[in-house]
Amino acid sequence: MRLYVNIDHAATVRQARRTDEPDPVRLAVLVEQAGADGLTVHLREDRRHIQDRDVELLTRTARTVVNLELAAADEILAIAERLRPHQATLVPERREEITTEGGLDCVGGAARLRKALARLSAAGVRTSLFISPDPEAVAVAAALRPDAVELHTGRYAGSWRTGGAALAEIEAAARQARALGLAVHAGHGLTYENVGPVAALPEIEELNIGHSIISRAVFVGIERAVREMRERIDRARGAP
Ligand code: PXP
Repeated sequence: MRLYVNIDHAATVRQARRTDEPDPVRLAVLVEQAGADGLTVHLREDRRHIQDRDVELLTRTARTVVNLELAAADEILAIAERLRPHQATLVPERREEITTEGGLDCVGGAARLRKALARLSAAGVRTSLFISPDPEAVAVAAALRPDAVELHTGRYAGSWRTGGAALAEIEAAARQARALGLAVHAGHGLTYENVGPVAALPEIEELNIGHSIISRAVFVGIERAVREMRERIDRARGAP
């Protein structure tokens, strides 16, 4: 299973002071050395954390791969076409939200998403759609023919302590998406404590995790933080 580390949160700290530290590009080197399979960054239209310069440098210097999260907006799509990251994950974006709150609306947004997917594919970029783990969303997303879907694990992350249906929903959505020929990714709100059951789902091949890893890095350093997450995932996958 691939672990892509979302480094937006380091850029958030930098932007709090509008200085040049901590530099997410320098952090990325350590993240890769610690065993991450990829780097995830969200270039938001409001540029609240990751900046154009970050994506530019990362796509030029990454030893692994870059997964660019983006809204289906002309300006950002043009940047993706120019920089051609390994993968682009289309996400919904609202300026007033603290983080990406829900999955894409693949019904209302179908025309826009179809165009965005076509542009990205034409540029040679692997495509993914960030969606809610429900049967309707999976079916509608699959009809748009991305390479992958990323299942939103936010509801699971908010409810795993008390049990409930959220994990079963992710499991069912992952099976459905796989059966429809899509690669399955997952992410949002995953932590050292709750990642195990999601990582154990065999249909899921990639996890995107940011906030928990960067938070732990404040205490133990980024390399140990990445390694510990890697170990939890590998253990859930049955590694000795
Ligand atoms: N996947 C997507 C599509 C996201 O938007 C985010 C947050 O930027 C993540 C994964 C990572 O979420 P977290 O920071 O909660 O681990």
